[in-house]
Amino acid sequence: MLRSLAAGLVFTGSGQSPFVEPAWMWSGAVTATSATVLAAFTERLGATPPLLVSTSRDLAGGRQLQGRVTPAPSRSRADRVVVEYRLEGLEPGTEYFAGIEPASGTRLRLRTFGRGPFSFTVAFASCAGGTRPVPMSHVSNSGVFDAIGALDPHLFIHMGDLHYYNINGAARYPDVLLKRFRRGLDRVLSQEHQALFYRRTPIAYVWDDHDYGPDDADSRSSTRDAARRYYGVDVPHYPLPLAPLNDGPIAQAFEVGRVRFLMTDMRSERLPPAGEMLGARQKAWLHAELERAAADRVPLVAWVNPVPWITADGDADGWGRYAAERREIGERITALGLGRRLVMLSGDAHMLAFDDGRHNANGGFVVAQAAPLDRFVRRKGGPYSHEPPQQKNGQFATLQVEDTGTRLTATLQGYRYVGNGKAAPVRETRLRLECTDDRCALTT
Ligand SMILES: [Fe+2]
Repeated sequence: MLRSLAAGLVFTGSGQSPFVEPAWMWSGAVTATSATVLAAFTERLGATPPLLVSTSRDLAGGRQLQGRVTPAPSRSRADRVVVEYRLEGLEPGTEYFAGIEPASGTRLRLRTFGRGPFSFTVAFASCAGGTRPVPMSHVSNSGVFDAIGALDPHLFIHMGDLHYYNINGAARYPDVLLKRFRRGLDRVLSQEHQALFYRRTPIAYVWDDHDYGPDDADSRSSTRDAARRYYGVDVPHYPLPLAPLNDGPIAQAFEVGRVRFLMTDMRSERLPPAGEMLGARQKAWLHAELERAAADRVPLVAWVNPVPWITADGDADGWGRYAAERREIGERITALGLGRRLVMLSGDAHMLAFDDGRHNANGGFVVAQAAPLDRFVRRKGGPYSHEPPQQKNGQFATLQVEDTGTRLTATLQGYRYVGNGKAAPVRETRLRLECTDDRCALTT
């Protein structure tokens, strides 16, 4: 078989017609019956190739799915196209394989969630910059991604710093910025370990600063509009209630079994002079979602809040400078009776640390910090009730849920990469919650 690299992943079998392979594929927006697969093609295609979707790895008997091409960002020649495939009518709790060309062996794999009570594992972490071969490199090719994949989570929640390109530039050239975002993503998804991981594990991803704009970027960043446009097109995501036209914060709500996940965008609405972290619209949305979760008597809420919650008032890190907004949200959580059935998943701080709620003065709920995937160590906030004596590179955590329908057990467990594609549990970071009726109790 001839591999034509210059043409960008077009394979030509001898005597056969050429077939096209995607430069990358990843998936998200998984529910019990649906999912989204995005594939990038570097070729100029006459027609978009259909995706074959099957319950068997060889794609035998698979159904053909036509994709939707996202319009090129500019009038200039697009260097690649992203095709969106919407998978609907899937069976709950089922493993699916997808690919363009059965003979190539390149597969995407995902599992739909179960309907109703469902036992599952979600992995979560942030900060994948890469410390090798050069310190402070922008993108990671760490084996930590193999280690997370080996635990086989149903979903990976990436809480930001997907890379460290610190994209910047003049807002008056939006297409240039858009191209920079797309190039950053292309580089992430061309790292062998990440490419394989994202082809076997669906994601729910929200940016932090280094993958949204420059260091500590906020709503005033010149990159804001481009980041939102790029995210809407190139990143598989759940519906964006505040950004129907890729024009707002990327907050999302979704369910895995009976657990309700709320994911907030801590960058693109943030306005430090006004002391606003979420912005008025997103804060109202969060309050409404918390009220809905309380009204629905959801047994467990997981708030994906990428930046540290437990920081001193006025502290430069995390929520410290947004203390009034933090207090307001914490009080709302308490008033709704959610303090004992909410866990917060956070990144940004390059550390692994859990708090059982005792140091959380704003809501009293459990907080789990999990990072860095591949970056130097840096503590932020605290104190935390559960913290290892040393922080290391290659850290992440899992939320493992076992649900009988009347009793839901949630275990938070920190992990650290130990090499050879394997991770070991970090003893100090383990918390277990048993949830029945309207509250969860911590168990040892
Ligand atoms: Fe980071």
